[in-house]
Amino acid sequence: MTTIALQVNRRAVELPAEPRTSLADFVRDKLDLTGTHLGCEHGVCGACTVLLDGVPARSCITYAAACEGADVTTIEGLDEDEITTELRAAFTREHALQCGYCTPGMLVSARDLVLRLPDADERRIRIGLSGNLCRCTGYVGIVRAVQSVIEARRARNVGPLADGGRTVLGPAGSGRAATARSELRPARPAPASESATPSSISDFTPATILDQRFTLPHPPAKVFAMFEDIAGIASCLPGVSLTSLRSERVEGSIRVRLGPIVASFEGAARVERDPAALSGRIVGIGTDQRSHSATQGEIRYRLLPLEDGAATSVELSIGYTLTGMLAQVGRPGLVRDLAKRLIAEFAANLDRHMSGAPSGRAAPAELGFWSVASDVLRARLARIFGRAFGRGGAE
Ligand code: FES
Ligand code: FES
Repeated sequence: MTTIALQVNRRAVELPAEPRTSLADFVRDKLDLTGTHLGCEHGVCGACTVLLDGVPARSCITYAAACEGADVTTIEGLDEDEITTELRAAFTREHALQCGYCTPGMLVSARDLVLRLPDADERRIRIGLSGNLCRCTGYVGIVRAVQSVIEARRARNVGPLADGGRTVLGPAGSGRAATARSELRPARPAPASESATPSSISDFTPATILDQRFTLPHPPAKVFAMFEDIAGIASCLPGVSLTSLRSERVEGSIRVRLGPIVASFEGAARVERDPAALSGRIVGIGTDQRSHSATQGEIRYRLLPLEDGAATSVELSIGYTLTGMLAQVGRPGLVRDLAKRLIAEFAANLDRHMSGAPSGRAAPAELGFWSVASDVLRARLARIFGRAFGRGGAE
């Protein structure tokens, strides 16, 4: 038995398995995620297709042990996914399933096509789905369903996602970077602030979502008003500086340091607010010329009253997709730990700011990722050595 640590449907999982256990058996037998079906069990039918580091892959011929550190998404993890929701409705409408055995794998593959190919015609869809076999439908309804979703998204001006949202360079499932090969190296991104217009900051499906929550000792209405003050919010965020501020659009940069890499993401964001629900959303894009990295991100927040309205619980959902060099070192587990600590810093600054005290942000030049990361790495090393010497230490 070997212990395998990976992310399944955005949840950290660490479980023992035989080295010969396939990823399909791992998710079905150990996690009860039986939406991943097994047909041929030798890589032909596609019924077992899951997303590995954002890429469709056959889980029946992938060893679970080879997925250490990987990001796995099964059909269950796509329940709330926008494209999969559209595909499910289209499959129903077009009678694209009968027994449904091939459907989970078909949906995972079709989602990838919708994400990458905004102009795919029937032929390209048939080629794209040629690795998924259906014994019932004759494919006509399936192709029609996928085509209708692609056309509907094109009509709504939803752009494709480069590489289908792939976040990690290297073999799918490795969860870590391969030696950078020139053909895998992402093209140098254009500065987002040059190319971003309000309409180009489009909606997207984040590769990683982090849910966080913190409490502020101020009433919800006061906190909501504070969230309208973008300059004030930015002053509480380490490493952030604004260059332009209009009502629903913000431009600026954020400097981050992760190990030896310093990146300065320049970009723009769209701000949406719902006063009735005391909630809002910030959707942004940014690029860093030096590390050749690009990101799309969104922050959704919701304010809930606590202590009879004297305090507020701030619920945050942070989603992002990172590509380029930083994606190679920004493993989801590490980013999650870092985000937790950075949000704690943000909350403390916010509280000070709202209480009229100086925010405590001595205008840090960049996110204190390294100092924070060293704590996280220390904890992780302790865990690894604890495991190696049989102590099973926790972070
Ligand atoms: S069960 Fe994996 S390809 Fe058929
Ligand atoms: S619907 Fe039965 S195998 Fe595809």
